[in-house]
Amino acid sequence: MGQIPRLGGEMLKKEAFGVQADMTIDTHAHLEMEAFEGDREAVLKRAAEAGIAAIITVGTTIPDCEKAVALARSYRSVYAAVGIHPHDAKGMDDSTCDRLRALAREDKVVAIGEIGLDFFYNLSPREVQIRRFEEQLDLAEELELPVIIHNREAHAETLRVLRPRKGRLRGVLHCFSGDLAMAGECLALGFHLSVAGPLTYPKAGRLRDVARIIPLDRLLIETDAPYLAPQAYRGKRNEPSYVVETARRLAEIRGLPFEDLARLTSANARRLFNLDGKDDDDVRVAGKAAGG
Ligand code: NI
Repeated sequence: MGQIPRLGGEMLKKEAFGVQADMTIDTHAHLEMEAFEGDREAVLKRAAEAGIAAIITVGTTIPDCEKAVALARSYRSVYAAVGIHPHDAKGMDDSTCDRLRALAREDKVVAIGEIGLDFFYNLSPREVQIRRFEEQLDLAEELELPVIIHNREAHAETLRVLRPRKGRLRGVLHCFSGDLAMAGECLALGFHLSVAGPLTYPKAGRLRDVARIIPLDRLLIETDAPYLAPQAYRGKRNEPSYVVETARRLAEIRGLPFEDLARLTSANARRLFNLDGKDDDDVRVAGKAAGG
């Protein structure tokens, strides 16, 4: 690549965003999952020590969404998203969206997700996945919440579902795995793109090419913990503090100082998910777990 676009110094000053500058946000983790049952407090403490200002914990089933909401209630730095993962779409019935609607009204619920299509595992039949995805997108539109979208090996169908909703939906394609053309179309539809640990894998050249072209105001970072640990921890359980590894690699790729990359992506997350508006008190940046 030739010249990497950079924002001017003025734009990078923290006053321009009105947020704490030097902290990172993990926009997608699954703290509610069993993988964190034994040491969740320690995981949150390490995240705070690593400068993670906020973590969005993303439900995938109704019981996990309930846990995610409870975690957001217990810890100042944790926010929740509620939705049914395509793997579990087959278990949804007509009352599921009502339950999600009720959960979405709880404090610190910032998005509908994780929803989408997974044609790699196909744990739910494809037509059921599509129908339940559409229903949950309807719910997000109704509640005016952003969406967190999972797409694996379902690029064309995901775009087919999203295209007619242009202008009515905001959100992110999490752990983006599409090519440059798909990235371009998602951006044109108004979506943010989020990169996760695979950015650090030696063979992920294509993903790094995509990461180079995402506009700096549409870029998010995440862990997808406990999955997809970055290269330095590959094969281990992932956790929010490791998002720093991905942020560092992304900063290199974009030719930005780490602090600027962290500040920009955090400002994007705060704006997309309205994190400041969802705080239950005056504390804007809560690095420390409040209790539990
Ligand atoms: Ni996930």
